[in-house]
Amino acid sequence: MSEQISINKNENLVEITHLKKWFPVQQNFLDQILAGHVDFVRAVDDVSFTIKRGEAFGLAGESGSGKTTIGRLAIGLEKPTAGKVMFDGIDLSSLESEELRKLRRRMQVIFQDPMASLNPRMCLGDSIAHGLKIHYPEKIAEHRDITLSIMEKVGLTPPHFFFTKYPHQISGGQRQRVVIARALITNPDLILADEPIAMADVSVRALLLDLMVQLKNELNLTYLFITHDLATAKYICDRIGILYLGRLAEMGDLREVYGHALHPYTQALMAAVPVPNPHERRTQVMPAGEIPNPINPPSGCRFHPRCPVAQEICSKDEPELRALRPGHWVACHYAEKFL
Ligand SMILES: Nc1ncnc2c1ncn2[C@@H]1O[C@H](COP(=O)(O)OP(=O)(O)OP(=O)(O)O)[C@@H](O)[C@H]1O
Ligand SMILES: [Mg+2]
Repeated sequence: MSEQISINKNENLVEITHLKKWFPVQQNFLDQILAGHVDFVRAVDDVSFTIKRGEAFGLAGESGSGKTTIGRLAIGLEKPTAGKVMFDGIDLSSLESEELRKLRRRMQVIFQDPMASLNPRMCLGDSIAHGLKIHYPEKIAEHRDITLSIMEKVGLTPPHFFFTKYPHQISGGQRQRVVIARALITNPDLILADEPIAMADVSVRALLLDLMVQLKNELNLTYLFITHDLATAKYICDRIGILYLGRLAEMGDLREVYGHALHPYTQALMAAVPVPNPHERRTQVMPAGEIPNPINPPSGCRFHPRCPVAQEICSKDEPELRALRPGHWVACHYAEKFL
């Protein structure tokens, strides 16, 4: 299997089909007996998409829509309740834990909070080199040089200076560069970036995004880029999926979706993106109400209780994703209205 892991070169690096993740709601035994069933949080409820090699695929949606859960499923950190994740032609569910561990070299993660993902008692150089120790212990003599060169690449210069520093001795923006370096050290194909700049100071966000774009081109990386912010997604993503309560509402090429949003939910999200020009007034606001409870999602289209164009059918029939324009899919009974 390890040989297969290194030689595959599928055009689609990630293929996700009918993915579901339902978490059982913890209930005490008596409540379970009285209810006669176990409730589930339907965090991800039948999601399919592919990520081509070398592309940046964005997942956007409000808090609790299932973005992080899909990311964790995509790299095998969680097992799906149903559905399949293929990475470079390999079905993750077919792998033994040791095989999955080896494959992880090719899929690395950048989380939101660099302080939480770095060991405060480990110097930055050792933190960054950690993946080398796990995946390439036989090359220990080269670890330091590889680490210094990756530190240089992410802008931690001079690298010798930063190598011996600790997380509390550097700025937030520099800490996020350390996390990026640590993800790149194993020469991965896929980077799962889960809100990678959300905690960074506004002044360094654009720099970090620039760095991520530059590294993607230079190292031919593929990104699964998770964000709740459409303005950030616009900067980095080639294609995007808009999630609502564990399902894709809309998906397509970034320019398509941003230029011709067909789902009322996407339109509301777009309208909520702040614009720098004070004369350009927003006419719409986010739909009223909070995102409903994923334990008992609304019947039919999950968005119907908040939707400005909902009709009777929307509370009855769940809309499927349909291709309405080239490279552009939408799950709405009335999307033709907006064509
Ligand atoms: N381990 C878990 N056990 C039970 N429920 C979970 C678990 N992980 C996630 N959930 C639930 O699944 C739903 C989706 O969570 P998820 O973290 O994927 O959302 P998200 O889109 O990443 O949100 P945010 O933008 O706030 O990070 C939420 O209702 C959450 O409470
Ligand atoms: Mg999340």
